[in-house]
Parts: sequence; structure tokens; C-alpha cells
Amino acid sequence: MTISRRDLLRLGAGAGLIAAAGNWHPLRAETQTRITTTIPSSGEQLPAVGIGTRDYRSNTNATEMQRFQNTLEAFHKAGGRVIDTSPNYGNAETVIGELVSDLGIRDDVFMATKVDREDPRDGIKRMNRSFELLGREQIDLMQVHNLRGTEAELETMQAWKQEGRFRYVGITTHSPRQYAEMERIMRKHTLDFIQLNYSLADRGAEERLLPLAHDRGIAVLVNLPYARGRLFRAVANKSLPDWASDMDATSWGQIFLKYVISAPAETLPIPGTTKPHHVKDNMGAAFGRLPDASLRKEIEEFVGL
Ligand SMILES: NC(=O)c1ccc[n+]([C@@H]2O[C@H](COP(=O)([O-])OP(=O)(O)OC[C@H]3O[C@@H](n4cnc5c(N)ncnc54)[C@H](OP(=O)(O)O)[C@@H]3O)[C@@H](O)[C@H]2O)c1
Repeated sequence: MTISRRDLLRLGAGAGLIAAAGNWHPLRAETQTRITTTIPSSGEQLPAVGIGTRDYRSNTNATEMQRFQNTLEAFHKAGGRVIDTSPNYGNAETVIGELVSDLGIRDDVFMATKVDREDPRDGIKRMNRSFELLGREQIDLMQVHNLRGTEAELETMQAWKQEGRFRYVGITTHSPRQYAEMERIMRKHTLDFIQLNYSLADRGAEERLLPLAHDRGIAVLVNLPYARGRLFRAVANKSLPDWASDMDATSWGQIFLKYVISAPAETLPIPGTTKPHHVKDNMGAAFGRLPDASLRKEIEEFVGL
């Protein structure tokens, strides 16, 4: 069954969820309760964990390409849909375009990419190239990368959204130094998505941007959900606490992602990985129960960052 994140949080752990899910059983949670994130501007629901492709750069090394392909295949098989990429990640758009075509999943994924040109004519060229490389006539989400050229790019992006070339538009950052500017743009423009850094190691977005996104009906893609691996290093010598089972988490990765998904906004983490076993682990976080407010506090205290 599918249950939205909002329902899961409202029901909390245990009895409420059992009632909602009928024959739900903790041991079978992964096959029965898929967590989704709702895009407020449309009501569309997406599987609550996506994938980041910053490292999908290839020199046509066959072994590496095979590993990328196996990872994307495992992602899709596990129910994953949201793929985040960018023309700034080396040749990642070329690699992703080829792989989704070879796997036959090109039209069955939610493709998000970016643009970062100051000159609107350069932006148009850059975005047209993304359509070509990704092999799509419509791109699900176009984002202004790191707020570069925002005003110029948003004008083209909104026009192309009207024409049906993009389904959604947004802006991204990964730096608290840009939060004030991001807030200004969120208040000025109508956006479907923002993308920012948020994790147990990096909670600055909780102060203003996540509440604002919630109030203004903006979905939030979350980059750096593992703080580029820093979170794993922080728990390297710690075994999984008993409370992990209260949120149906079987790994530290799932705890970190469920922490992001359960934040009080429409969040959707996009952990970067090029490894099939990591993607399977990550997709496990899109099933089962989520931590409530008191368990979130316990996680924060335990990890201690
Ligand atoms: N401004 C922006 O727009 C912006 C900025 C930064 C990032 N992004 C996007 O956000 C995505 C995520 O950020 P990121 O990749 O830089 O950092 P991240 O997701 O915080 O961390 C990625 C690291 O975690 C490892 N990892 C992934 N799953 C794991 C698991 N289950 N267990 C253990 N380790 C795991 C990966 O290793 P392996 O690769 O070996 O699996 C990689 O080293 C990027 O790929 C990109 O799409 C956007």
C-alpha cells in the first residue's frame, strides 16, 4: 500500500498505522507501506527517496558504466523515480540519458536537472542541450543551480513551463551563505521546488527555509543528506540503537534519510550513490514508519552532531 508521509507522521508509530494499513506487520513493513512526498503545487506524489548523480561522470570505462547501470536499475526496481542531475556534473547528463534509455525507463522516471547561466541566451542553449542529452521532450523539473542567473533563467523557465516543456521549476543551493537570497526568491517567485542541504549534521534550513517552503507550498529536494559521508563517519563505531526498529530502519543510512523525510516540510532526499548496494539500502528508507518529534530528538542526541 502507499501512505503519504503526512499520514505516517499523524498516525505515529504502532497502533494507528496498523489500523490504517489493515494487515500491516512490522516485519513486512517494507513491502507494504511506501512513503511518498507530495508536491504541494500539483498534489502529485513521489516516492520519498530519490538519487543524486554528481558522480555519474565517465570516461566510457565499461566497468564503471556497468556499475552505474546496475545502480540505476536497482533504484528503479526498488520504486525510485526522482533522479537529480546537472550539466555541471561533468558528462553526467550524457551518462544518465544513455542509461535510462538502455534500461527502458526514460519515461518512467522523474528527471530533475539544472541551469546556471547569467545570460538568458546562454541559458536557453544550455537547457536545450539538457533535453537532447537526457532524450526527453519534457523535463520534469528544471532548477536554477546555486541561484546563478536566477531572474533571467526563471523567466525562460516559467515560459517553458507554460508551454509544457517543464512540469515544475525550482532553485537550488547547498550553502547556508545563500539562504537569505534563497528566502528572498522564495517570497518573490512562484516555485514548485527548492533544493537545499539538510541533514543531522546540517540543520540550518530548519530555522527559516523549511517552514517557509511548507507555508508557501513548495516541495524540497534535499541534497547532501549524508553530509557527503560525514554522518557515516560520526557513527562509525556505534551499533544500531534499539529505537531503529521503531522507525523500521535497518541501517544508519535509513535513519539519516528518515530523519530528513520526517522534517516538517515536503522533503525528498536525493542521496548521491553509484553503488547498487547503497541504492538498495537508501530505498529502504522510503518504506515503513517515520520517527515522530520525540524520536527525532533522540536521534539528534544520539548522533551528537
Ligand atoms: N547546489 C546543488 O544543486 C547541489 C549541491 C550538491 C549536491 N547536489 C545533488 O545532491 C546529491 C547528493 O549530494 P552528494 O552526493 O554530494 O552527497 P551525499 O548524498 O550527502 O553523500 C554521498 C556519499 O554518501 C555515500 N553513500 C550513499 N548511500 C550510502 C549508503 N547507503 N551507505 C553508505 N554510504 C552511502 C556515497 O558513496 P557511494 O557513491 O560510494 O555510494 C557518497 O560518498 C548530488 O549527487 C547532487 O545530485 C546538488
